[in-house]
Amino acid sequence: METFKGLWTSENVDGTYVTAISNIPMDVLNPEQVLVQVFYSSLNYKDALSSNGHRGITRNFPHIPGIDAAGIVINDPKGRFKPGTKVIITGFDLGMNAHGGLSEFVSVPSTWIIKLPSGLTLEKSMQIGTAGLTAGMAMLALQQNGIRPIDGPIVVSGATGGLGMCSILLLKQLGHEVIAISGKKELHDFLKSIGVDEIIDREEFLQETSKALYSMRFAAAIDTVGGDTLIKILKSLKAGGSVAACGMASSVELNLQIYPFILRGARLLGIYSADSPLVLKQKVWNKFSKEWNFSLDKIVKTINLEEAPKIMQDMLAGKTSGRYLVKTIT
Ligand SMILES: NC(=O)c1ccc[n+]([C@@H]2O[C@H](COP(=O)([O-])OP(=O)(O)OC[C@H]3O[C@@H](n4cnc5c(N)ncnc54)[C@H](OP(=O)(O)O)[C@@H]3O)[C@@H](O)[C@H]2O)c1
Repeated sequence: METFKGLWTSENVDGTYVTAISNIPMDVLNPEQVLVQVFYSSLNYKDALSSNGHRGITRNFPHIPGIDAAGIVINDPKGRFKPGTKVIITGFDLGMNAHGGLSEFVSVPSTWIIKLPSGLTLEKSMQIGTAGLTAGMAMLALQQNGIRPIDGPIVVSGATGGLGMCSILLLKQLGHEVIAISGKKELHDFLKSIGVDEIIDREEFLQETSKALYSMRFAAAIDTVGGDTLIKILKSLKAGGSVAACGMASSVELNLQIYPFILRGARLLGIYSADSPLVLKQKVWNKFSKEWNFSLDKIVKTINLEEAPKIMQDMLAGKTSGRYLVKTIT
């Protein structure tokens, strides 16, 4: 039987889950979809949840995790993509309820596929991955709400995470002053080395959150954390400021009075990259291939498939930082 190499998450008899490299039968893939040989994937928080059996992300196991994939089309039964076409697939149901990119092959509907823009390599596209794409969508949302470098500092929470670091690099590329909120004191120097202008310790920021409003400090924010952090950021925005709310690394709750909205005109912009229309994804990928084409080398660690399960466990324990590029072919 033909097989391919990939990560395989399965349920143990005691209800726990294990993710390990396996030889997976080719027939788990859908022959009616586009077959893509994956060269690179990446690690995102959602992959860590899926590979740990989180039913809110993945309903059925065994399962191949991986919400990101970049590779080459091997076969498209409907003929939309020629064999050899370089493509990117991020989000939709990839790695959630469809087998994902942490493997040598994926099969996906053609409607999930972006042709790799010229100016990007497969490797670079997965350095960016869903985290970078989301940072890009957050940036676009802030720009559409009129935020300019002259308006003042932009705060990024969860600054040492994949989404946080991609946001920092992008904001700096576009000339913004950046304030980072981070719980990792040991990475403060690193954050400065990638351009962060000021760092607020997470614990200090959250010491006092109960006032209706705080002094107007941030022109805008990219929040990856949610909960009290998002609440205090909203209460600390300058008049007319915007927050791109992307994540929930700390909490899904948002228990907030209405004052920031009606007394300061704060705008809360929800960002969800996975199911965004393909045209929006294409627009952001095109930007990354042209005017947003900066190096991510400082924030990316390259690993192979075998190393991914351990790193995903570390990710859930809050012990990782930056982006992880996964080479799927050895
Ligand atoms: N909306 C979307 O489309 C979209 C796309 C991608 C990701 N996300 C979400 O965005 C979030 C971040 O994703 P990621 O890939 O960057 O994850 P990540 O690499 O694991 O980073 C998360 C960061 O959040 C901070 N953090 C962790 N636990 C925390 C806690 N209990 N309280 C406060 N801060 C905490 C940490 O940064 P510090 O130590 O520096 O504080 C950590 O590095 C996740 O919730 C993910 O699901 C959303």
